[in-house]
Amino acid sequence: LKFVCISNDGVDDHMIWLIGLKNIFARQLPNMPKEYIVRLLFDRSHKSVMVIRRNHVVGGITYRPYASQKFGEIAFCAITADEQVKGYGTRLMNYLKQFARDLDGLTHFLTYADNNAVGYFIKQGFTKEIHLDKDRWQGYIKDYDGGILMECKIDPKLPYTD
Ligand code: ACO
Repeated sequence: LKFVCISNDGVDDHMIWLIGLKNIFARQLPNMPKEYIVRLLFDRSHKSVMVIRRNHVVGGITYRPYASQKFGEIAFCAITADEQVKGYGTRLMNYLKQFARDLDGLTHFLTYADNNAVGYFIKQGFTKEIHLDKDRWQGYIKDYDGGILMECKIDPKLPYTD
């Protein structure tokens, strides 16, 4: 089992994993247009943290780091159907926080959570109260009325992974 953070960099394995993650998102996020999923996944300003088991993608989180603003926007998050509620989603989020803090220098995450995923995000430390200064994120993330804006602060020192 491994956790990787990749973007569309042309490496063969990475392309295959991105396509695998695209298929999981398309199935698990039926309200998202497939073209939109593909566009963001392969957009070079987005990154994806994925769980890989025996060279197959189990799930992932795609995000856009805004380095100058020190926050990241989570675009998509899903675990493949038969592997949900086994703890992968929690471990994935912990790796995301570790990578985003140590590689991108981020302090916060924002996301528009689907109604049915709010409970998962709360368990991962997200809140519906947004503490981040509005001028740090306004104009950067796009308004989306299919979800609830949620925030998570990344601890500056905590080891999130083992
Ligand atoms: N609602 C409430 N609680 C949840 C949900 C949920 N939808 N999903 C998981 N949990 C809880 C679990 O019960 C568990 O609680 P516990 O620690 O008390 O046992 C905790 O959250 C973590 O569970 P994991 O097993 O780590 O979560 P999982 O691997 O299933 O991943 C995820 C969670 C990503 C939401 C997965 O269930 C999934 O892919 N769902 C369908 C797609 C989806 O809704 N994605 C998010 C959309 S919003 C967005 O993409 C920005």
